Amino acid sequence: MTTKTLYKFLIIYSLLLHVDLIAQDKYGISNEFHLKNRNNLRDQMPDNSVSVLFSNPVRNRSNDVYYSYHPDPNYYYLSGWREPHSVLVIFKNNIKDSIGSYNEILFVRERNPDDEQWNGKRKGVEGARKLGFDRVLSKKSFSKMNFNFDNFNKVLLNPFQTDVKDIIADESDLFDLQNQLKNKINYPNDFNPEVFKWYNLIYSVNNKDIERLKKQLRFFSNRNKHLLNDKIIQKFISINTEDFMKEVNSDSSFFIPEFNFDFDLLDKYLTNQREIKSTEEVDLIRKAVAISSIGQSEVMKAVKPGMSEREIQGLHQYIYKRYGAAHEGYPSIVGSGENACILHYITNDKTNIKNQLVLMDLGAEYGGYTADVTRTIPVNGKFTDEQRLIYKIVYDAQEAGIEMAKKGNSFSQIYEATKMVALDGLIELEIIKDEKELRTYYPHGVAHHIGLDVHDPGNYGLLSENMVITVEPGIYIPEGSNCDPKWWSIGIRIEDDILITNTGNENLSKFAPRKWDLIEKTMILKSPLDNFNLPNLSN
Ligand code: GLY
Ligand code: MN
Ligand code: MN
Repeated sequence: MTTKTLYKFLIIYSLLLHVDLIAQDKYGISNEFHLKNRNNLRDQMPDNSVSVLFSNPVRNRSNDVYYSYHPDPNYYYLSGWREPHSVLVIFKNNIKDSIGSYNEILFVRERNPDDEQWNGKRKGVEGARKLGFDRVLSKKSFSKMNFNFDNFNKVLLNPFQTDVKDIIADESDLFDLQNQLKNKINYPNDFNPEVFKWYNLIYSVNNKDIERLKKQLRFFSNRNKHLLNDKIIQKFISINTEDFMKEVNSDSSFFIPEFNFDFDLLDKYLTNQREIKSTEEVDLIRKAVAISSIGQSEVMKAVKPGMSEREIQGLHQYIYKRYGAAHEGYPSIVGSGENACILHYITNDKTNIKNQLVLMDLGAEYGGYTADVTRTIPVNGKFTDEQRLIYKIVYDAQEAGIEMAKKGNSFSQIYEATKMVALDGLIELEIIKDEKELRTYYPHGVAHHIGLDVHDPGNYGLLSENMVITVEPGIYIPEGSNCDPKWWSIGIRIEDDILITNTGNENLSKFAPRKWDLIEKTMILKSPLDNFNLPNLSN
C-alpha cells in the first residue's frame, strides 16, 4: 500500500468510524430510526397532547444484586436510550421559549464517577445529546418543568411500573420521577387504569349494549379483584337497565371524575408502529434468527444420550454469545419427554436424557431484537415410528401455515390451515375421534409478531409487508392421555420466524434443519464439542 493509499484509507476509515459514533448506537440502529418513530407517534397523537414515557426500573434479584438492565422496548424504540432513570416527553405541538422552539425533551441521569467505577460508564447529558433530540436535560430538571398539564387535551401514558425501588440518596430516581409526574397531573392515589377503562365504557355505552357490557364485566370481575371490589362496577352489574338509564345522569354514586390522562392511546399508537418493521429492524431480526438457527443446527450435532436439559440449553446460549448476542429474548425452554408437553417449561433440570425427544425453544436477542425458534429432536439421533408420525403431522401443519403467511391474509387463516392438518392427522392415527378433542393435544395459537419483544405488539388484523411473525404448531400428548400409551410423552413444536414480503414470505430460520430426515442426517455430523471433555467431579 502506498502512503497516498494509506492516507486515503485512513480518511475513509475515520469518516466511517465517525459516522458510526455519531449516527448509530452499538446495537446497530441509527438515530434517524428513533427520530422517525417519534415523528410517526406525533402524527398519530391528538391535537394539544403530550406523551410521557418512563424507562424501565432496575429490577432487584436479591439483597444488593440486580438483574442485568433491560430497557423498556417502547422507550428504546422511541429514544435509542438504554439507561435507567429517564423520562421522555413528546409534544404534539411545538413549544416555544426564550431559547427557541422544541417538541421533545429527554431527561437522563447525570454522570457519576463513583457509581461508574462500580457499575459501568454512563453516557450522561452530553452522551444523550448525540442521539439528536431537540432537548436533553438532566433528570433533576424534570421536577422543575413548569408546564401546566391541565392545559393539555390529553396526557398519554403507559401504566406506571409498580416494582420501582426508591433510592434514598437520589431525589430524582425513577421512583421520584414517576411521583413528580403524578403530582403534575393530579393523579389520584387510588387510580386504577384498568378499572377506569371500564368506567369509560359504562359512560359511553348504548342502550342496546348494556346487557353485553354487564356480561363482560361479570366475566372479568371473577378474574380481577380490582373490578370485583369496585363499587361503581359492581353497582352497574347489579342494576337493571332502566334504573341505570335513569340513575346514570342523576345518581352521584355513578359519578366518575374526568381526567385528561389516558393509558390506552399510547399503547395503541405504538402497536400500530411496531408491528411493521423497518429495514434496520429486519436486518437485526435476521441476524438474531440466523444466530438462533446456527444454535439449533450446531446443537443437533452436539447432542448425545446422557446429556441434561441444562447442558443443551448452555450449548445454545454459548453459541449466541460467540456471535455477540447479549441476552436470550426469553427464558430458554429445553424440555425432554414429558417436559416437552409443558408449553412454557423453563426449569430445564432433567439429567441423563436417553431415548426421548427434546423440544428446544430458544431465541438469541441481538441489538435488542429477538428470535423465537423451536426444533424438536430425538436425543439418540433417530425418531421412533411413533415420534416420526406425530412429527410429520406437525411439520405438514407448519408447511400449510407458512403457505398462508402472506400479505393480505389473516392470522386466523394461518391457524385454520395448520389446524385442519393436525385434525386430520390425529384422527387418522386414532388419537382423537373428532374436532371437539383437538384442543387437548393442540392447545395454543400458532403465530405471533416478534421484534423487540418475543411477543411483540400487534393488531392481529391482516398481514402486511415487513411484519415478522412466527408459525409454530405443536402437538403435545402427556402421560395418562386418553389414547394408546405408545403416544404418551411425545411433545413436538416446530417454530420458524417468517418475514412477510411483497410477493410472499421468507423463512428467516430456514437454516435450522426442520424436516425429520434432515434432522437425523445433521445429528450424525461431527461437532467441535465432541472432544470437549471436562474433568470428572465426583461429588
Ligand atoms: N417462546 C415462546 C413462544 O414460542 O411463543
Ligand atoms: Mn413463539
Ligand atoms: Mn418459541
